Amino acid sequence: MGDEISTQAPSLGNLLGELLDHGAAEAVLFAVLLLSALSILYYTVRTGVPPMPSHPSARQAIFRLIPENFAPATIYELGCGWGGIAFALAARYPQARVVALELSPVPWLVCQVRRLVQRRPNLEIRRKDFMKTDLSDGDLVFCYLMVTPMRGLERKLIGDLRPGSVVITSTFAFPDWTAETVETVPEATSAQIYRYRVPG
Ligand SMILES: C[S@@+](CC[C@H](N)C(=O)[O-])C[C@H]1O[C@@H](n2cnc3c(N)ncnc32)[C@H](O)[C@@H]1O
Repeated sequence: MGDEISTQAPSLGNLLGELLDHGAAEAVLFAVLLLSALSILYYTVRTGVPPMPSHPSARQAIFRLIPENFAPATIYELGCGWGGIAFALAARYPQARVVALELSPVPWLVCQVRRLVQRRPNLEIRRKDFMKTDLSDGDLVFCYLMVTPMRGLERKLIGDLRPGSVVITSTFAFPDWTAETVETVPEATSAQIYRYRVPG
């Protein structure tokens, strides 16, 4: 009796088992992790800002600094990283359109996967450079970046935004613009959160 040839298609379980037996799954996983790390590194160098999420206490302070009874129609988060603040803003302001901009592909992709389980119909997550995006309809803008981009961003926001719009920045202040309120967050290595208002 010769070997019988199976006419059944291999199941996904069998296929994965075969791949694991031959080490292919580990190789693919390693390649994905390596490419992700290289991508994060490349975009950190390119933008000068790592995808470091805000400390939970800083996040609370950011929300405290949003003026009471403020009803923004459009909110921008400039560099949303892994989405923690963008998703929270969309939940807190369900009537607003929340636009989260992120240039780095890996955090952006994580946000897209996150929205499959954390549905927020009013949240748009775009893979875009915020310096090349028209922000003129923003009523509330939030960012947590680094020192270097703040000068150029200050000029852009004062040029783009309407008088009265609110800008909240975490940890890094604008060099020339005077904040109307500053809150220190002792739990987050005494980081300061700044609230600015576009002058009329
Ligand atoms: C420090 S993280 C902050 C993440 C998030 N906003 C938070 O507070 O948890 C800053 C993010 O800004 C992104 N970024 C920096 N420059 C950018 C640009 N010009 N356009 C879009 N995203 C940018 C970086 O890739 C990084 O993920």
